Amino acid sequence: MNDKYGRKIDYLRISVTDRCNLRCVYCMPEEGISLMNHKNILRYEEIIKISSLAYELGFRKFRITGGEPLARKGLTELIKSISCLGNDIDLALTTNGTLLTKYVHELKDAGLKRLNISLDTLDREKFQQITRFDLFQQVIEGINLALEVAFDPIKINVVVVKGINDDEILDFVELTREKKLWVRFIELMPFSRNNWSEKRFVSADEIRAIIENQYKLIEIKRSYSGSPSYDYSVDGHKGKIGFIASLSHKFCDQCNRLRLTADGRLLPCLHSDGEIDIKTPLRSGGTDDEIKAVLHKAMLAKPQGHRLCENGLKITNRNMSKVGG
Ligand code: GTP
Ligand code: 5AD
Ligand code: SF4
Repeated sequence: MNDKYGRKIDYLRISVTDRCNLRCVYCMPEEGISLMNHKNILRYEEIIKISSLAYELGFRKFRITGGEPLARKGLTELIKSISCLGNDIDLALTTNGTLLTKYVHELKDAGLKRLNISLDTLDREKFQQITRFDLFQQVIEGINLALEVAFDPIKINVVVVKGINDDEILDFVELTREKKLWVRFIELMPFSRNNWSEKRFVSADEIRAIIENQYKLIEIKRSYSGSPSYDYSVDGHKGKIGFIASLSHKFCDQCNRLRLTADGRLLPCLHSDGEIDIKTPLRSGGTDDEIKAVLHKAMLAKPQGHRLCENGLKITNRNMSKVGG
């Protein structure tokens, strides 16, 4: 499917829950946020139905997100079903890594191809400050096990926040020396209740300059057209690094994605407030063609780009954990 601006839309990000077992300071307040009512959450068979219709419309990349997706019971069954939709499916998961040791083998067996893990610090105490939980060791064990099980690639998402973890940029680059990890430095984006401030923002160019002072970076081809990340190999390192510059170099002109929230809404863009209800037509017995028409409508509603940086910073009226990033 092509949208109004000629972009091929073939990537569905599926948030399976808004619940999370962490409370990252740049994502939510300590007390958490109001949660979706259980009866509004799409059942797995509903998610599979939407995914299979999206597949018929040409979607080939599917990513499971949350909150924390592994916090929802039976996730590997969903992964198995989506991976069975076709052998040309690229199926990935974004997780905070805290529950990985328990599930990593199951995930591999279920057909998961790619794994993105959030980790913002290599220091246990700082992990607790950032996430408000003492689960650093569990995440590290999860990453090591994922390497053993040979997920490839394993991407590590590092949201860089000034005064919190910008002193660890080089440590993360060092991590790629011996480990085949793909560390991506992410610009902090403003969301509802995440206390975004210019004082906490570090641009991708600043991060790259810090790294290039010490390391030789070699630009590599982007992993796919529409990837938000600009990627580099580091001379002599097994892993790679990348930069996701959502604010300073927005990548909207290549955007290829739609989002499905846990409560059954399609979001045409991460940063605009429009959303399209797909749950009601699904639950009221809509035909396959009617459901496909809703997917089509969401695709046509995609804006040309986000407007976060225009007229001062516009903060999306949504919480990140309800959208899945
Ligand atoms: P790959 O398929 O591995 O490239 O995954 P991804 O980078 O699309 O997904 P991931 O869930 O790992 O997200 C990494 C970062 O990119 C997060 O901070 C996301 O919020 C951000 N991101 C993902 N999609 C979009 C998008 O459409 N727009 C913007 N501005 N940021 C996005
Ligand atoms: N800005 C940028 N990235 C964010 N993430 C969560 N909150 C933000 C934010 N405000 C990242 C998480 C996760 C991915 C889905 O989005 O760290 O890796
Ligand atoms: Fe942290 Fe992600 Fe959970 Fe938000 S949803 S608290 S960023 S782990």
